[in-house]
Amino acid sequence: MPKYRNSLNKDGDGYDPAMSRRRFLVLLGAAAGFGALQLLGVSVLGFLYPNAMKIPPSIFSIGRPEDVLSKDGKLFMASQKVFIQTQAGKVRVQTAVCTHLGCTVNMTETGYKCPCHGSVYDKLGRNVSGPAPRPLVFFDVFKGSSGDLMVDKAKTTLDYDTAWFSA
Ligand code: FES
Repeated sequence: MPKYRNSLNKDGDGYDPAMSRRRFLVLLGAAAGFGALQLLGVSVLGFLYPNAMKIPPSIFSIGRPEDVLSKDGKLFMASQKVFIQTQAGKVRVQTAVCTHLGCTVNMTETGYKCPCHGSVYDKLGRNVSGPAPRPLVFFDVFKGSSGDLMVDKAKTTLDYDTAWFSA
């Protein structure tokens, strides 16, 4: 305690408001330091965690050939935003992402329609009206080493005949 401390700073029961202020400042400093460390830690961890891991893999499975190829029809796979069309033991996979601004298109009786700005595609995914500039692409389908049918989103085609895969 400094010699020149005024005894008037103490109240009757010995409570010293100056100590309280010091303690407050120490706590404030500790809290600020803790906050800064947290921010630093979060930003460092964010830096160490690569963004690339947030991008879904371009190759994914659509199931066992005996399961996929035994059906006829068209299914929407929401997790990958693709339509899986099967017909007479063949399968082809087409994107469900609108070529205008990337909304997910819906199946209609005549093909596909985008709910965002009204682009319309025919049954083969060719853009017929609206702002969509290009058709919906098909993805490469192949049999993976695990035996599953795999889709590679990095390999695309607009040729709806060669897009079919048969085991
Ligand atoms: S995103 Fe599909 S029409 Fe605009």
